[in-house]
Amino acid sequence: MKTYLKILATGISLPEKVLCNADLARMVETSDDWILTRTGIRERRITEKDVATSDLGVDAARMALTSAGKNPEDVDLIMVATATGDHLFPSTACIVQDKLGAFNATAFDISAACSGFLYCLTVAHSLISSGVYRNALIIGAETLSKITDYTDRSTCILFGDGAGAMFVELGTDGKGLFASHLGSDGRYSNLLNLPAGGSRMPASLETVGNGQHYIKMNGNELFKVAVRSMEEAARKTMEKAKLDTDNIDLLIPHQANIRIIKALRKRLDIAKEKVYINIDRFGNTSAASIPIAYHEARTNNVCDKDSLIMLVAFGGGITWGGVLLRG
Ligand code: ACO
Repeated sequence: MKTYLKILATGISLPEKVLCNADLARMVETSDDWILTRTGIRERRITEKDVATSDLGVDAARMALTSAGKNPEDVDLIMVATATGDHLFPSTACIVQDKLGAFNATAFDISAACSGFLYCLTVAHSLISSGVYRNALIIGAETLSKITDYTDRSTCILFGDGAGAMFVELGTDGKGLFASHLGSDGRYSNLLNLPAGGSRMPASLETVGNGQHYIKMNGNELFKVAVRSMEEAARKTMEKAKLDTDNIDLLIPHQANIRIIKALRKRLDIAKEKVYINIDRFGNTSAASIPIAYHEARTNNVCDKDSLIMLVAFGGGITWGGVLLRG
């Protein structure tokens, strides 16, 4: 039986501080033109030093709860998708729970890099449709600026900070998420990683000196697998729903690079006007990218309650995911 996960309300949090391409051109050898042409990014938001991922997550969550007309104690489940949690442990979800005062909830993080939010949505769909929980507060939150090497021009131009949240529950009116597909391939784990700070390479003077607490990326290879994996995610999700890409009213892809998005759009044969883009303003915010974009699309009436929306992402791991929803 088809079950729906209804998105009752959304929220976002974006730091005020803007880092534009001209600022980066003063830090590394690059230019506004190079960054814009190769990535589609004009600017990104960056947190102040004393702001952590949970702070952005809590702000986005509060906005979603207020908009849903719910109190923190109404929340059954909190899931945070992040690659930049406040600590290795406890989970950022537990910190969010504490700050919100959502003490009736179970809280945990999901680690799937930029696909993390779609992993959370799919897990929530399964747990809520099977009756384990009644509702969930799902948050994608990142402070990628904290793990970005601002002397490395091949990565520092890409990333930004931000958070997006959704309050979800079982849908009874045919609206919400109804199909999804997740995948991963650990053989590509070396394409994007943070080498040190875990049990493989604990923090030491040497790891700090070698810059091993910063994102390392093989951009060219990642580009190719990104396009392939997002196409697969989208097609398999459509297959499950027995729908065709012609039926899609709005495609919201993970905002990693405008050229990746264009290549995906062409492969799926979807009109340009049907693709939501905000990478120019926020860069790549990893797990926060899709909930921020969905919140904007919904708030600005780019979609309505009957729109068929495809969310699609890829991320380090590598991981990928597609989600189809109505409304
Ligand atoms: N400014 C100026 N020149 C640069 C810059 C820069 N910021 N960065 C690299 N270059 C130079 C390179 O040194 C190279 O010079 P060379 O030809 O003299 O050697 C030249 O530009 C071309 O470099 P490429 O790496 O081939 O450039 P490309 O067009 O592939 O763009 C990019 C690089 C933007 C990183 C691209 O490969 C990309 O977006 N890859 C996908 C990465 C991605 O999606 N990351 C997200 C990771 S997180 C997630 O969402 C899963």
